[in-house]
Amino acid sequence: MTKLSSLAEQVSALSPIYFHDSYERINETDDAFFYKTDRFVNHLDSLALQTVEDVIGSLIIEEKPVILDLMAGWDSHVPSWLKPGKVIGLGLNENELKSNKILDKYILHDVNRNPSLPFPDAGFDAVINTVSVDYMTRPVEVFKEAGRILKPGGLFLVVFSNRMFPEKAVKLWRNSSEDERVIIVEEFFKETGLFERPSLFVSKGKPRPADDKYASEGIPSDPVYAVYAERMGGNPLREKRPNVKIRFGALPSEEVIEARKKAVKNTLCCPYCGEKMSKWKVPDNPFCQTWDNDFMYICFNDMCSYYIRGWDVMYRDTNQGMSYRCMFNPVNGCCSPMPVPTPFALREGIIP
Ligand SMILES: C[S@@+](CC[C@H](N)C(=O)[O-])C[C@H]1O[C@@H](n2cnc3c(N)ncnc32)[C@H](O)[C@@H]1O
Repeated sequence: MTKLSSLAEQVSALSPIYFHDSYERINETDDAFFYKTDRFVNHLDSLALQTVEDVIGSLIIEEKPVILDLMAGWDSHVPSWLKPGKVIGLGLNENELKSNKILDKYILHDVNRNPSLPFPDAGFDAVINTVSVDYMTRPVEVFKEAGRILKPGGLFLVVFSNRMFPEKAVKLWRNSSEDERVIIVEEFFKETGLFERPSLFVSKGKPRPADDKYASEGIPSDPVYAVYAERMGGNPLREKRPNVKIRFGALPSEEVIEARKKAVKNTLCCPYCGEKMSKWKVPDNPFCQTWDNDFMYICFNDMCSYYIRGWDVMYRDTNQGMSYRCMFNPVNGCCSPMPVPTPFALREGIIP
């Protein structure tokens, strides 16, 4: 057995990312063989894909960035407004890579067979890996390689959702909850010793687009998680990467929100989206005992930017798996956030 030199190493060795069977797969056949079959499909619904574009487009701020799409298919989700200097795709399906319009070049390379990436040190501004980290059997080695080929301060952006090819996803991923997967990816970053502290963006609970094949099943749009970090050694004076700006669910201006808040007791419209709020019966439970009124007004609009952004805000505030809706208290005249764990929560209290 390898000798573990420090307490930190001994503690990290207890993590499931180091368990001997964590990277077992149901289908252990050659990946090159599995991915030889063309799959010109969308791996997420259209709204989630728009969010992926927004994430990539917001976080890559370099001029004419040189980008590696690691584990690429036929679409790299790089928005046209980014104007990249060069995009290289690395993956396993030649037909898909050939038809990926944004790529200047593609390389067929199996990262599970050989995690060394065929590029020199410090040549990329950004490495993106979209809905594919679940298939890596040697993730820490691949993450180290991503660090090696990035320029100091360059971005490694790992985006994932909750869909997968289960037979090719590793056991660690299949057996983890969505929240645990975020921690797992953060650990991959930390274990390399090459990246700054990872940041997180979460998009959940948006309505599924009406034209989506699962629209009638009442499930929300696919969640999007982005865990990202900069290669250590970047210029500390350089402009900071901004927060992710999403097209769907952008907040109105502060002035509009304030004006609507002032008017809410007359309009009963949500200050954030302008939609009518629903009258809602306060339940008889210990959490609501501090309210002495029988009714509140709550915005149940699933398109409301306050609610849409709430998943991300709550996640960063360590309240994983929650968002909030805007609630107006007609007794004190104030609006406040009402936490919700799902898009369906609290609806039973709506008074028609
Ligand atoms: C779910 S698809 C995602 C494709 C693309 N990144 C996207 O966002 O649409 C998974 C991709 O990972 C690639 N892939 C899977 N296993 C791989 C491996 N061992 N080495 C390199 N690429 C791999 C496949 O070629 C496939 O395109």
